[in-house]
Amino acid sequence: MAFGTAFSLGLVALVAFLAGPIGHFIRITGIFLTPNPTILAEGQVPLYIEDTTHCEDLHHYRPANLLFTACEDDRNTRFKWFPPLGSFVPVSAQGSIHVIDPRTLKSTRLSFEDFKGPFITHGIDVIEDPERPDAVYIFAVNHIPNPDYTASEKPKGINKSNSQIELFHHVLDSGSARHIRSINHPLIKTPNDIYAESPVSFYVTNDHFYRDGPMRLVEDVWRKATWSDIIHVQIADLSKDGPIDVSVALTGLFNNNGLGHGRTEKEIVISSAMGGELYLGTLEGNRSISVHTTVSFDTLTDNPSYYEDPYGAEGYDASGFVVAGISQAVKAVSQATDPDATAAVQVWYMGLNKGTGVWEKRLLFEDDGSRIRSASAAVLIPVENEGGRKLARLFVTGFMSERILVVPVEL
Ligand SMILES: *[C@@H]1O[C@H](CO)[C@@H](O)[C@H](O)[C@H]1NC(C)=O
Repeated sequence: MAFGTAFSLGLVALVAFLAGPIGHFIRITGIFLTPNPTILAEGQVPLYIEDTTHCEDLHHYRPANLLFTACEDDRNTRFKWFPPLGSFVPVSAQGSIHVIDPRTLKSTRLSFEDFKGPFITHGIDVIEDPERPDAVYIFAVNHIPNPDYTASEKPKGINKSNSQIELFHHVLDSGSARHIRSINHPLIKTPNDIYAESPVSFYVTNDHFYRDGPMRLVEDVWRKATWSDIIHVQIADLSKDGPIDVSVALTGLFNNNGLGHGRTEKEIVISSAMGGELYLGTLEGNRSISVHTTVSFDTLTDNPSYYEDPYGAEGYDASGFVVAGISQAVKAVSQATDPDATAAVQVWYMGLNKGTGVWEKRLLFEDDGSRIRSASAAVLIPVENEGGRKLARLFVTGFMSERILVVPVEL
């Protein structure tokens, strides 16, 4: 643990020596940050959603006003086996997909049909079934340990993780999710988050080029290591093992990580976690993505989401992007394997100032890790308009947070 911290600090120092401009990177590491927990208004308390342990990603499915997430469910597995954080002590675990009613704050685990294997959860996406408005398709990253790696006699040179994507079909309110198929391919190496375009077309980020080892650490801290990429997958049909066509949609970003839907069908929002940046891009229609806007944050930026203000027509439009992240990345190495660690967080909002054309940022919520331990995704859900005030509920979850946190915010 101490070694991890010292090692991280050493790397930061090395990077400070090698790269510039360095101020932004130093702020992302949070080395000099003292968390300043947000004080809620009088009479307001944080709310929690029971049975939402270690849910890395969170999506608001607006047509049915439901939240979807994928959770580890077990308090211990994340700290042993989680390839995205370089934790490789194999576990046998099956997390689950949860549906949360944002009004009652009740979380329901979906039971699986036709799916028995391990499920090590990470990013997801949820889209409507184009043939059934009362159903959705759910794409989910699954970091399965390679059975050869868990064997006592390990062959040389194997990958520790057989990370892949699972596709499920869920009829709303049914309580279950049917497994359609798994998707694996040599180009899908370190999958992190998913953007689904249709049930047979999706994009997935590889957050690192190197799966583990010292070069992976270099990729964490060296801005010029722009080796991560976004992969496009086209599925021929929805049979168990129909052919897939896989290609690189975008490369050249540093540590690309979270993906979110944007303001139009063609807009995609991408985060660079250690780069502390959000990128707005366009799906070009030829399976490639182009980036046209970059917005910089002073904290690590994980999964982004888009908030659509339903009262936007009435004067000020509070629509914007929300992004959550841990605010002391320098401690991440030691926290990754410590079940009792806390991790300070910040949640940011960015809205377009239509007058100036500038994306304006605002810190929505900050914590020292005592109210929520880590943050990797956040979504806003509107509260009925009260006398022109833009009130919303902010839902925050983390890759190692015990329960999803809900706090009131004014936009
Ligand atoms: C895809 O389309 C965009 C915009 O027309 C173009 O810039 C890009 O080169 C195309 N990419 C490929 C791989 O064809």
